[in-house]
Amino acid sequence: MTAQLAPLYARHLATVRKRTDEALALDGFDRLLIAAGAPLNKFLDDQDFPFVANPHFRHWLPLTDAPGSWIVYAPGAKPTLLFVQPRDYWHVVPAAPSGYWVDQFDIQIVRSAAEAIAALPKGGRNAVIGSACPSIEGVEANNPQAVLDYLHWHRSYKTSYELALMREASRVGARAHRAAERAFRGGHSEFGIHLAYLAAARQIDAELPYASIVGLNEHGAVLHYTNFDRQPPTAHRSLLIDAGASCAGYASDITRTYAGAGESEFQALIDSVDAAQRGFADMVRAGQSYPELHIHAHHVLADVLREHGFIRMNAEDAVASGVTSAFFPHGLGHPIGVQVHDVAGFQQSERGGIIARPEGHPYLRMTRVLEPGMVVTIEPGLYFIDMLLDELRANPAAKDVDWARVDAFRPYGGIRIEDDVACTDGAPENLTRDAFAQLA
Ligand code: GLY
Ligand code: MN
Ligand code: MN
Repeated sequence: MTAQLAPLYARHLATVRKRTDEALALDGFDRLLIAAGAPLNKFLDDQDFPFVANPHFRHWLPLTDAPGSWIVYAPGAKPTLLFVQPRDYWHVVPAAPSGYWVDQFDIQIVRSAAEAIAALPKGGRNAVIGSACPSIEGVEANNPQAVLDYLHWHRSYKTSYELALMREASRVGARAHRAAERAFRGGHSEFGIHLAYLAAARQIDAELPYASIVGLNEHGAVLHYTNFDRQPPTAHRSLLIDAGASCAGYASDITRTYAGAGESEFQALIDSVDAAQRGFADMVRAGQSYPELHIHAHHVLADVLREHGFIRMNAEDAVASGVTSAFFPHGLGHPIGVQVHDVAGFQQSERGGIIARPEGHPYLRMTRVLEPGMVVTIEPGLYFIDMLLDELRANPAAKDVDWARVDAFRPYGGIRIEDDVACTDGAPENLTRDAFAQLA
């Protein structure tokens, strides 16, 4: 894979440089300085939280373990990487950069974060992109909004290099999902399933793009369930696993739901959500409004609820009365890339601005019209969540809900099926389904 990445990376960097030239020109900046960032300390402790490099830094180069390092770029000049390689016998010292990308940079090795700051160019007007927490001693990140807006907007359009990394992150995730399914079928605990996932991904928790969600039975109803029971339950009725993988700083975000042996009714419901999900994924096409796709998903899921005997009203009424929101209480998906919840999902233009969510849909994370190059998740779900079902009982529409049927499904928790889908000039590319297919 690395051999193919070299030319892709060269083109990616040329694109990033061009976008940066345009962003800096908006407000007369001379340079872009990007801080990789520093690890956050634990309060009153000598330990740090796991380090996660600034996504702007990772967008420029595939270095994820570079605390204290900086990228310095002035339009027209080769970018510089100030790479911190401390003298340290307590920790593993990051290896000197190598690989397909290094000849695109002037690389200066420094021995500390302070030395990197001292080596930053002086004078001129700098756009300095970095986290405010922890602050960087000696330099103030100014994060100019106009520059960020421009860069975030254009980050929506993935380069071929980024798509190659996301395909690989999807392959790693799909392989690990298969191992998790085997662990589920083998009667393991949530903890055991999680360990099987990590082992197959060959990634540790801190390397994953987000905390894995592994919920057996009722736990599938907790949207972000991250408890990992150490003991297996007495029955394995269902598994909802939402877990991704990383590749060179890029994310995959994958959810699958499985029914235990003999659980044919729950399997039938999974099959219906799966068919609906494939339909939505197929609508990831240029010109498609994402919020309209989200509303369309509510209508299709209303039909699924009716076909499976949970509700007696038509789709229009189920959506209008808020019934579908009790069963599908989150957004259809979000942009994904170098961040699992990538930037610019609400952005109006390269100059910033916000496209509001449709009323009544407070958790939707993407309100834009799809265009070639965008990658979004498509992750519909149906859940049996006590809190929301209690609220639904107070809704006049509750009379058209078959509560005995609903109660019968509470022990399964819920269903979510999530793929990462790239919008192209033609048919969508489903990175997740392709990755699973390649394993077969
Ligand atoms: N794993 C979080 C999400 O699906 O957005
Ligand atoms: Mn997601
Ligand atoms: Mn997910």
